[in-house]
Amino acid sequence: MKPLQTIGMKKGWIYEVIVSTYRGNKPHSAPIGVWTDDFVNLKMEIYSGSGTLRSIMELKDFAVNLIADVSVFYNSLFDEANVEYRDSLNINAPVVRSAPAIIEARLKKVENKGNRFRLESEPVNVEAHEPIKLINRAEAIVIESLILATRLPNLPGSRAQEALRENYRVVRKTAPGSQYEGIMEKLVEALHGPASGESPC
Ligand SMILES: Cc1cc2nc3c(=O)[nH]c(=O)nc-3n(C[C@H](O)[C@H](O)[C@H](O)COP(=O)(O)O)c2cc1C
Repeated sequence: MKPLQTIGMKKGWIYEVIVSTYRGNKPHSAPIGVWTDDFVNLKMEIYSGSGTLRSIMELKDFAVNLIADVSVFYNSLFDEANVEYRDSLNINAPVVRSAPAIIEARLKKVENKGNRFRLESEPVNVEAHEPIKLINRAEAIVIESLILATRLPNLPGSRAQEALRENYRVVRKTAPGSQYEGIMEKLVEALHGPASGESPC
């Protein structure tokens, strides 16, 4: 089994992780979505202007910290003094000390997509200290959508319907082919007739 398969990733699904890099000589991190299409390469899209993007382009090495504790996501964005790091033994990047699992990766290919860059990397080492819980947005979005659907009769105007369509778009993007996509499709169809398959991004 390929390493990205052993940690439970599904093809095309987007997982929310903490990417850590050195910025100057200081460890730094940011939440990013990652996916694989082949269990060999790891992909992500990062918006131009991101410091993490600059660090990865410059140093090539970065760590993907698989963390289910959402307070680390908050700290990474808004309270970085509370994120503890250690040096990786395998790559030129810091890793988050509390991460139950880590993918240490090296940049292979960069594609400029206008306002963002698509990066393709190869895992150099995969380490799991505890059972891994990958974070994918689809399950929580379906629960929110079901709640929204029960409240539709009490909500005026089309904003709730628009929110459901947007949720469907995000689920198709983050968990393609999943039961979550199937549920969202039925929900949107039942409420407004057949939905379009188009997605803005
Ligand atoms: C759960 C989550 C996922 C995110 N995924 C991405 C992503 O895939 N690409 C991206 O460019 N920004 C993403 N962001 C936003 C970046 O984390 C955010 O812009 C951050 O401030 C970038 O920091 P940097 O400039 O230090 O790189 C995400 C944020 C969250 C909370």
